[in-house]
Amino acid sequence: MNKLILKLLIDANGEFVSGQKISDELGITRAAIWKRMNKLKEMGFEIESVTKKGYKLVSYPDFMNNDLIETGIDLKKIGSKVITMETVESTNDFAKQIARDEQDGTIVISEEQTRGKGRRGRFFYSGSKEGIYISFILKPQIEPSKASFLTSIAAAALAKTLDELNVEVGIKWPNDVLIDGKKICGILTEMSADVESVEYIILGMGINIKGESFPKEIKDIATSLKIQGYNIGRLELLWRFLPIFEELYLSFVDGDKSEILKILKEYSCILGKEIYIHYQDKVEKGKAIDITKDGTLLVEFENKEVKELNSGEISIRWES
Ligand code: BTN
Repeated sequence: MNKLILKLLIDANGEFVSGQKISDELGITRAAIWKRMNKLKEMGFEIESVTKKGYKLVSYPDFMNNDLIETGIDLKKIGSKVITMETVESTNDFAKQIARDEQDGTIVISEEQTRGKGRRGRFFYSGSKEGIYISFILKPQIEPSKASFLTSIAAAALAKTLDELNVEVGIKWPNDVLIDGKKICGILTEMSADVESVEYIILGMGINIKGESFPKEIKDIATSLKIQGYNIGRLELLWRFLPIFEELYLSFVDGDKSEILKILKEYSCILGKEIYIHYQDKVEKGKAIDITKDGTLLVEFENKEVKELNSGEISIRWES
């Protein structure tokens, strides 16, 4: 019941929802609504109530626990189980330890990470209550070679979520979500598989939301929603993100990548641009011309040769 009331309040996007509407849609009395609203307030939601106008969701709690996360989601697979913690070295490492025994769609989320992992062995800064540090345990029946596409699905889902909140966002292929050229989210996908089948995939995302500063090594390349002037709560963003992610993920598992590719292209901040491709010890210049149906990047090099690039082997900087 709390879920349904919250959904009405969230869908109203900061406008009032009348008591009559809630009562009609949920078939409960005004007194019962009042009780539910108080329960939500106890959970940390700020709800304004005005006679003749109804109820308005003013702000979300700024902490995460199972109860809260589960209250806001009603999904088929993602979040079928939610594990929250105050602190952990790395949600990806934790998820890996339990993955074998957990069901597809389980999420592990922590208020901070003391040893957050980035790609290529790098450290991922994960300040307490500053972001969403989340790992998904996924068990799709796909070929192991297709698993890296999950990273793009997460990037696409986040770009779409932020766009719906009027955040100007871009995707730097294959998996960085940027605002104003700086990274707002990092994604690390790890897998356990044999040649033919996937045992499990751990998809980890770190979304910078409330942080006001970053360690000096990354302050020029990382940013947060807050630094960019967006006041969006962590829980709100998580709730909005999860259904979008689930929809794209399930369509991918069903063999349909069209919507994901559309998003990846629409928000791409490198397509049509001159880029530098850094790989191994070389740097080559080219133009990003397309993202293929497999999620690889087509680049035309200065000698007019066109090559298809896979994720994982390159990093890209574009000219500004
Ligand atoms: C990168 O940008 O290099 C990837 C960063 C991935 C960070 C996330 S935070 C949650 C999950 N747990 C980790 O240890 N890493 C990922």
